[in-house]
This record gives sequence, C-alpha cells and structure tokens, in this order.
Amino acid sequence: MVKSYSRAQIFLHWAVALLIVFNLIFSDAMSELWEQMEHTGPAPTTTGAWAHIIVGLAVLALVAWRLTLRVTRGVPHAPVGTHPLLKFAGDAGHIALYALMIAMPVTGLMAFYGGFDTLGDLHAEVLKSLLWALMGLHVLAALYHHFYLKDGLLNRMRKPG
Ligand code: HEM
Ligand code: HEM
Repeated sequence: MVKSYSRAQIFLHWAVALLIVFNLIFSDAMSELWEQMEHTGPAPTTTGAWAHIIVGLAVLALVAWRLTLRVTRGVPHAPVGTHPLLKFAGDAGHIALYALMIAMPVTGLMAFYGGFDTLGDLHAEVLKSLLWALMGLHVLAALYHHFYLKDGLLNRMRKPG
C-alpha cells in the first residue's frame, strides 16, 4: 500500500476540482441555449456552451485517468488513528464524488446530444445540488483534519511524499 499520492494524482485532483467549479459556476450560456432549444428547436452552439461541453469532457477524461491510477498505483490509507466511522464516511464520500464526477458530464451529454430531456433536469437540479453539497462536506472534512485533528491529511494533497 502506498504512503502518499503521486505528483500526477495531486495534479489531477486540483485540475479536476478547478474544472468542476468552473462548470458549476459558469453554466448560464449552456442553460440559455438549452432553454432556447426546448422552445424553438435546434440552435447553433454558442462559445459559452462549447466551453461548458469541453470542460465537462475534460473532467470525464481526467477522472478516467485518475481512476486508472487509483487502481494501478493505489492511494494512501486514512491517517493512523482515524476513527473507523470517519474512515467509512471519507471512503463513502470519495466514492460518491467519483460517481458524480462521471454522472455530471454523462447526463449532460445524453441530454444535449441524445435528446433525453429528463436527464437534463437530473443534471441541472438533482446532481448539481448533490455535487455542491458533497463538495462542501469534503472541504469541511479536509479543514477539520487540518486544523482540529492536525493529522497532516491536507498536506498529502499538496506535495508528493
Ligand atoms: C463537470 C461536468 C459538468 C458540470 C459540473 C455541469 C454543471 C452544470 C450546471 C451547474 C448547470 C446549470 C444548472 C442550473 O440551471 O442551475 C448545467 C446545465 C447544463 N449542462 Fe452541464 N455540467 C457539466 C458537464 C456538461 C456536459 C459535458 C454537457 C454536454 C453537453 C452538459 C450539458 C448541460 C445542459 C444541456 C444543461 C442545461 C440543462 C437544463 O437547464 O435543464 N453539461 N450544467
Ligand atoms: C478546496 C477544495 C478541496 C480540498 C481542500 C480538498 C482536499 C482533499 C484532500 C486533503 C484529499 C486527500 C484525502 C486523503 O488523503 O484521504 C482529497 C481527496 C479527494 N478529493 Fe478533494 N479537495 C478539494 C476539492 C475537491 C473537489 C472539488 C473534488 C471533486 C468534486 C474533490 C474530490 C476528491 C476525491 C474524489 C478524493 C479522493 C482521492 C482518492 O483517494 O482517490 N476534491 N481532497
């Protein structure tokens, strides 16, 4: 079992985090285009909407790379002494984040290119809210480890061991 994240794993964590936050915040162009398409049929994809699609595709590709590394190289265990319940919550939270990082772009693509309108609602309402909520908990958990438990967990995502 490895003791730290690799340089590539750390880069991928922060690159994906940035891209996801970008798409969560800058989604207006895509939402406007979608609304227009629902009312008046096919419309040319605007630059803002392209940005949303390309960033979403990049997330999908980088997460695939990340999961491959997770399986082939592995990831470090929870710090020694972590309460089993906290360890379970951490693992479950990470699995849910991975699932959402895949489900967001996939539902977006299926709605936009496949015409599955209900997946558009799932994408823009349920999954979006879940992603914000889990990300919030994830960041709070990281800060709790750093400032309260002082177990060095945050540093594992800052520099390779
Ligand atoms: C990391 C990936 C993605 C994230 C975090 C994301 C996030 C969002 C957000 C926050 C909205 C606006 C929700 C609202 O109205 O409040 C949205 C709308 C939308 N996104 Fe994405 N998106 C991602 C990838 C994609 C991809 C790859 C596509 C493919 C075309 C896509 C298609 C759409 C569509 C069609 C809408 C409008 C849906 C509607 O308003 O019902 N998204 N997305
Ligand atoms: C300020 C923002 C963030 C901070 C401070 C942060 C911090 C961390 C830390 C310290 C770890 C390592 C946990 C460990 O060693 O057990 C981690 C792992 C992880 N983070 Fe974040 N993170 C942030 C944003 C995000 C975002 C936006 C996402 C995705 C939506 C994300 C998804 C993940 C996942 C899936 C893991 C598990 C990695 C693995 O072991 O496979 N993080 N994060």
